[in-house]
Amino acid sequence: MSSTYVTTPIYYVNAEPHLGHAYTTIIGDAITRWSRLTGAPTKFLTGTDEHGLKIQQAAEAAGVSPQAFTDDIAPKFAAAWDKLNIANDDFIRTTEPRHKVAVAELLQRCYDAGDIELDTFAGKYCVACEEYYSDDELVSAEGVAGEGELCPIHQRPVEYFEEENYFFRLSRFQDRLLDWYAKHPTAMTPEHRGNEALGLIRSGLRDFSISRTSLEWGIPLPWDPKHVTYVWFDALTNYLAAVGFGSDDQDYEDWWPAIHLIGKDIVRQHCVYWPAMLMSAGVELPKRWAIGGWLLVGGEKMSKTSGNVVNPLDLIDDIGLDGFRYYVLAETPYGSDGDFTYEGLVARYNSDLANNLGNLAARVATVVAKKCDGVGPAPDPDSPLSAAAETAYTESAAQWAELQPSRALDATWGLIRATNAHLEQNEPWKADPGPDVDRVMGDALEALRIVAILSSPAIPDTAQTVWERIGMPGQVADQHLPDAVTWGGYPGGADVVKGDPLFPRIKL
Ligand code: MSP
Repeated sequence: MSSTYVTTPIYYVNAEPHLGHAYTTIIGDAITRWSRLTGAPTKFLTGTDEHGLKIQQAAEAAGVSPQAFTDDIAPKFAAAWDKLNIANDDFIRTTEPRHKVAVAELLQRCYDAGDIELDTFAGKYCVACEEYYSDDELVSAEGVAGEGELCPIHQRPVEYFEEENYFFRLSRFQDRLLDWYAKHPTAMTPEHRGNEALGLIRSGLRDFSISRTSLEWGIPLPWDPKHVTYVWFDALTNYLAAVGFGSDDQDYEDWWPAIHLIGKDIVRQHCVYWPAMLMSAGVELPKRWAIGGWLLVGGEKMSKTSGNVVNPLDLIDDIGLDGFRYYVLAETPYGSDGDFTYEGLVARYNSDLANNLGNLAARVATVVAKKCDGVGPAPDPDSPLSAAAETAYTESAAQWAELQPSRALDATWGLIRATNAHLEQNEPWKADPGPDVDRVMGDALEALRIVAILSSPAIPDTAQTVWERIGMPGQVADQHLPDAVTWGGYPGGADVVKGDPLFPRIKL
């Protein structure tokens, strides 16, 4: 079975982790948890982007060295991911030696290929984006492109830079990139986001600067160390560094190429610069780029600069860890923008978690206690619910493979809805104990067992609780698809425990 290596962007450490960072990280976590259920060797990487002018300036403002500054913030990301139950296998910091080795190796290969050359550069630069902009891209205070001096993303003034830089000859790669994408039409998803990247390539590619002499906080070019590499060449290489590029051939063989989860704001760097850099260096291109939209607050991208930052850890206090994870995964199709509101969070929680899953688990345990002496009956091999279970699995598997958690969860919730409907139709709570009640309850328990497995990538703690309450041994995360979801796996004869409500209803 081929391996699955999923990456998130590495986050800038000029700010503490916010909901926007949590968004992509939770999606990567759920996708990799699903992959592990299928038995594929799986690696999930996240980390922090620690070099560059933006960080250097943030450290200066804080009155500490850049190293001390990043040493303080990087662990806050790791700690936030711990609290969000993120099962990353590795956490890379671009200040680590393994990363520096990989960056030097990639730079040297591109230089040896003749695709990096010295030139003079003058241009307008947004420090927040770490990106040069041309006059027609800059905007006015009213947001009109071509009529101002403000960064189009941050609406703040750009800075004028002029210096001797090394350039990556991106302009040479237009045809090669278009050819490659033509041969790999599903490499970028969703399609509309991939088309934006193809549009960037077709509109013509400019060489881009990869080094500075004025910058101190970064990795020196191996052949000309008074130049320090520019932030994107450094940052992108993390994906290779974490699998031993330049240091551990076996590790690299085992995992590369990767599936990159990225936000729509970093498409140019990931879908244009990065594949060109890899082509130049003779490295295999990524398997896939899954391009996400933004989680907006009041219609705006969340960012420190906009002052609309929502701390994910505060939300967990209100809605619970799995309630929050579920909202992030279920609310918006991956690739589209979502608008975060507290009302939306509570509404989603109450309908899908409190009323559907929570209610199903509670009523099953109550009826089993009253009518089956608290012992779960075996399911009926010919249950009418078995078809719903099969559909839930095949549809959710297809959607996880498409990297569409919201649709995968909707398919899973289809089984919850079918099971609740089956119970309402049969009303076992009104019937006398006996084979009819046992059959209905055995079917409901089997459906819950399958739901626990299928929902475990999204709500791992709750899935394990359901698993234990219906009397299943071991860990739900250790089950293997597809066998584990074949109808009839619930053995019957196990003690069923009611416990506290999984998701108490929340009043606004
Ligand atoms: N350090 C670079 C990425 C380098 S990857 C080799 C960077 N960092 S970032 O911290 O600014 O943002 C990283 C990612 O987080 C981006 O893809 C961005 O889209 C995502 N998000 C940041 N805020 C977000 C939202 N409000 N909503 C969804 N994702 C957002 O760019």
